[in-house]
Amino acid sequence: MAEQPRLHIIGLLHGDITSREDAPKNFDESDRTGTLEIFPEYQEGLDGIAAGQTIVVLFWLHQSTRDVLKVYPRGDKSRGLRGVFATRSPMRPNPLAISELKVLAVHGNQVEVSGLDILDGTPIIDIKKKIS
Ligand SMILES: C[S@@+](CC[C@H](N)C(=O)[O-])C[C@H]1O[C@@H](n2cnc3c(N)ncnc32)[C@H](O)[C@@H]1O
Repeated sequence: MAEQPRLHIIGLLHGDITSREDAPKNFDESDRTGTLEIFPEYQEGLDGIAAGQTIVVLFWLHQSTRDVLKVYPRGDKSRGLRGVFATRSPMRPNPLAISELKVLAVHGNQVEVSGLDILDGTPIIDIKKKIS
């Protein structure tokens, strides 16, 4: 039998967005700032990340609903229901978010970023280089 996927949380987001109502709808409409705290055992993986870069960060939306397959995009009922895989909705079977964030500074295992659309305390799953 194939091995089941197992995720390792690599860190936590610290920011001032504490409610979904206060969260920007997406990273491309946000100038909110915060800090990615990467756990010490993964800090070496930050080598090469520097201020001025844009990074792609995958989050696990821990407060999301996983049993929804159709949503009104952005809660707008006039647009009709759409399958979650055709949207960027946080509600989906595996509540992963992808945000492109600008790096403001790196201090050890702390990466200061802007462009956040993610709640304080959200687990970080991965960070990737953005393809330009
Ligand atoms: C539309 S999603 C987009 C996320 C990501 N930029 C993407 O495109 O995959 C952003 C929304 O997710 C919600 N959200 C953010 N952090 C969350 C969390 N930890 N749990 C549940 N919902 C969250 C907020 O309502 C926010 O406006």
